[in-house]
Amino acid sequence: MTYVVTENCINCKYMDCVEVCPVDCFYEGKNMLVIHPDECIDCGVCEPECPAEAIKPDTEPGLENWLNLNAEYAKSWPNITIKKEAPPDAKDWDGVKDKLQKLSAEPGTGD
Ligand code: SF4
Ligand code: F3S
Repeated sequence: MTYVVTENCINCKYMDCVEVCPVDCFYEGKNMLVIHPDECIDCGVCEPECPAEAIKPDTEPGLENWLNLNAEYAKSWPNITIKKEAPPDAKDWDGVKDKLQKLSAEPGTGD
């Protein structure tokens, strides 16, 4: 199993999660992070740290597409271990439905 970053991270991107991961397995896109499923050790410490409640264990039903998306982008986006400033409008995006269409495939800048 692994933990996965899901839809509510998009455009919220708070990045509290990266500071607590003991194996540094977060990867940065322009407006979302993902977890590398093969590197995550399932410790679970990141889940309660996310203000947007976007991190879920993949044992929750219905997360297959998010797991695939995390695995795919973790291959090409840069690693991130240090929290940066969240987007200024992060709060406005928290809880907005159907954010997947807003996801950018562009990489972030990493550490
Ligand atoms: Fe990192 Fe643990 Fe979260 Fe996996 S569950 S991404 S190892 S903090
Ligand atoms: Fe995203 Fe939550 Fe981390 S919004 S960047 S998964 S703290």
